[in-house]
Amino acid sequence: MMARNVLRLCLLVLLALSFASSLSAQRKDLLMATEYPPKGEAEATQKIIKLLKERLEKDYPAPERTRRDAHPKQHGLVKAEFTVVEGLPKQYRVGVFAEPATYHAWIRYSNLSGQKSPDIAKDSRGMAIKLMGVEGEKILPAHATASTQDFVFMSTQIFVTKDVKTFGKLLKSINGGKVSAGVFFLTHLGLLKLFSEVRIQVANLFDVEWGSTTPYLLGDRAVKYAVLPRTPSGSELPAGTPSENYLRERMVATLSDQDIYLDFFIQVQTDPVLMPIEDPRVKWNRNLSPFIKVASIKIPRQTFDTPAQQLYGDQLSFSPWHALKVHRPLGGLNRGRRAIYETMSKFRHDRNGEVSEEPEDWITFQ
Ligand code: HEM
Repeated sequence: MMARNVLRLCLLVLLALSFASSLSAQRKDLLMATEYPPKGEAEATQKIIKLLKERLEKDYPAPERTRRDAHPKQHGLVKAEFTVVEGLPKQYRVGVFAEPATYHAWIRYSNLSGQKSPDIAKDSRGMAIKLMGVEGEKILPAHATASTQDFVFMSTQIFVTKDVKTFGKLLKSINGGKVSAGVFFLTHLGLLKLFSEVRIQVANLFDVEWGSTTPYLLGDRAVKYAVLPRTPSGSELPAGTPSENYLRERMVATLSDQDIYLDFFIQVQTDPVLMPIEDPRVKWNRNLSPFIKVASIKIPRQTFDTPAQQLYGDQLSFSPWHALKVHRPLGGLNRGRRAIYETMSKFRHDRNGEVSEEPEDWITFQ
């Protein structure tokens, strides 16, 4: 008995030592704020684009209006003010965070699933912020002179796949119908677990904790972004069979008589292994690197749910690549999103006979 316990202990020590040495080996290889593109990424990205186009053609046969492939259900597009905080430590004063300033912004709230899915269903929610009046050359040649800087968030701090290759396989299985998706999930149980974790019920969009899930440059370091409510309303899920669009209705009710405040944070990469660039399934631990507030967001009291403003929100395009070079998106998922968002936005605009244009400021709709 004693000998067996000693053997077990030795095995445990050996395992711990080999884990520690593999970690330190990785640590030697990986550099902070550095990307490691895997082979086959460009091909996998093109496959995704092909699958997405096929899906849009199937979901929106002409003359139906073509929506976004992801996040088509728009709760609302609201006006917001984005104010960079004063007294930021020097190392974070980069790009839009360089100086205390207030930018006009549009914020679009969405569900990942389609128009017909009721808000009470478990889903991923989206919040996309577009700052306007941001000076400086932007990354995409087609948007080089645009005055916009976007930040794109989901209602989670992690993404479900490590890379575009696995995302492409997931998409293919979903496009193939229930049986093929079922087989895929049964053979990818880790992904199934994450997929069910990120799909949540939401009582009130202004109470959601938002995460960029993927990293971005901030000068020469890597950060993730998060947006948290300053004072959560404490709303509860509606009882019984609620209205299909209760999330928009609650936004309308809130913004009819009060302003909403959110706080915008960065989380700096402080360890290249525990806070990887190439795997957004890994949540960056707040004990390793706390959130640092860099801006406040005010969503002033307003009426936003007019048909004209809803249509305008549908016509806008948000992309992590609508950005200054110092805020360049990092990691494989983001690299894939460059071509995916540009191509898919153009595809839906072309199908609708429209042209996507970056806004310069708020517009007041009647
Ligand atoms: C390979 C992975 C991904 C693919 C294929 C993908 C695909 C897309 C597409 C096609 C759109 C619509 C673009 C348009 O027509 O304008 C979109 C929008 C969106 N995506 Fe992704 N996406 C991916 C990863 C992510 C990640 C990691 C996030 C995390 C924040 C995210 C959040 C969003 C949100 C919030 C929107 C809606 C933006 C808006 O309001 O216009 N996506 N995505």
